Amino acid sequence: MDLFEAISARRSYRGMYKPDPVPREHLRMIMQAALDAPSGCNKQTTSVIAVDDPALVKHLGTMLERDDFASAPAAICILTERKIAYRDRTFYIQDYSAAIQNALLAITGLGYESCWVEGHITDADQIGRQMADVLGVPEHIELVAYLPVGLAAEEGNRVRKLPFEERAWFNGYRL
Ligand SMILES: Cc1cc2nc3c(=O)[nH]c(=O)nc-3n(C[C@H](O)[C@H](O)[C@H](O)COP(=O)(O)O)c2cc1C
Repeated sequence: MDLFEAISARRSYRGMYKPDPVPREHLRMIMQAALDAPSGCNKQTTSVIAVDDPALVKHLGTMLERDDFASAPAAICILTERKIAYRDRTFYIQDYSAAIQNALLAITGLGYESCWVEGHITDADQIGRQMADVLGVPEHIELVAYLPVGLAAEEGNRVRKLPFEERAWFNGYRL
């Protein structure tokens, strides 16, 4: 799929997934896309774990308490380390956001569905930390987002975006 097609085709999918496994080769391409993202001062604060072991992905899925996300046959877990970039500045949030978007575009380009699941796992119940513990992630590394990966079993919805003219201009604000 062409890059611009993938950018506009990407959407947050919240339907059930088909059980068909995602080949390792595809998971590696998605992981590499995440790692190829830019990072502030090249600190490379983001790392990733792909989960394709059926029992493990099911276990993580039950922690999510969402039948839709939990039905995915694979997932990419996004990890971050809060490294200082320079002085007291950190860019780890920007770093992992760029990595996630790259991963989502790769997922879309390969014909799979996903959703950036961050709010759900970083709320007060700390599902992300519980998942990190299951995956053996050390305490100083945070699991900040979960990207289910798989083929759509349902239609799914597409949100409406505001018109171009309401959010983008040339040569000045609202010109
Ligand atoms: C930082 C961030 C956190 C998100 N967390 C969740 C989440 O926990 N659960 C969820 O269903 N969607 C989550 N999303 C997806 C957004 O709801 C979604 O991107 C938005 O509704 C726009 O829809 P689109 O992705 O289809 O363009 C998150 C997106 C971002 C950028």
